[in-house]
Amino acid sequence: EEEIDTKLFHRKSRSIELTEAGVFFYKHAKNILQISEEAKLMTRRIGSPKKEFKLGFVGSTLFGYLTQIICGIRLAHPEFKILIEEMGTPTQIDALKSGIIEVGFGRMPIEDPTITNIVLRREPLVVATPLNHPFCQRETPIKLSELIEETIILSRVKDRSPSYSSLIIDAFKQRRLPLPAMREEGDLQFALGLVAAGEGISIVPTSYQKIKFNVIYHPLEDPTLAAAIIMNFRKDDHSPLIESLLKIIYGLYEKDGIYYEKSTLLAGSSA
Ligand code: BEZ
Repeated sequence: EEEIDTKLFHRKSRSIELTEAGVFFYKHAKNILQISEEAKLMTRRIGSPKKEFKLGFVGSTLFGYLTQIICGIRLAHPEFKILIEEMGTPTQIDALKSGIIEVGFGRMPIEDPTITNIVLRREPLVVATPLNHPFCQRETPIKLSELIEETIILSRVKDRSPSYSSLIIDAFKQRRLPLPAMREEGDLQFALGLVAAGEGISIVPTSYQKIKFNVIYHPLEDPTLAAAIIMNFRKDDHSPLIESLLKIIYGLYEKDGIYYEKSTLLAGSSA
């Protein structure tokens, strides 16, 4: 009152009330204090480097839900800097152990006493052919036995096996089928480029059907032909981001009616 030379209170013997000027001053002072508090918080956030949370992924998961999962986790945890890097499964396991990544998404299960793996879902496979392939006239699903005379183009293994290619080779072996001619080149996107050029055919996870560059996709008859998507993380990691990731992933599957088995890690939750 002294400083602004204005009466802010009506003082009565038993009570005190704000004057009209007092109400005005109170409202503005409150706003100023709130803005000042926000400025302090924002300054602290800008000044302190964000904690990093890095995820590794194998290239063949890129066309599935990966991008939506990354956007979801960034939105749910703005206090973390979310980083991603492509790496094969064995590299992911080493990177998890040395603390370079916190989570890895792969296709092949790896047994390691320090790592937890969760099978997120099993993605069906489809056959990719060039536009002029005889399969393009077919209206029925393709049998694996019909592929033995073809050249199958797959991705080249970047680091130690097991790899996506070994899954396809094993599918022929398990059905006691002769192995077709195989060519391993670059990654699966590159393999699809070669398919478009008429160099052979490929077998890819359904999510690759997003690539529509002079290739046609055909369903396989055998529904057990599927490539798992596996989430790996350290057994002793109890970061809330692990649970958050699972909730985001299961939420996406539920939205799209994708079959999955909920991990016991979230079994009690309503995600
Ligand atoms: C998916 O497509 O289900 C997926 C892809 C990458 C990471 C996790 C899940």
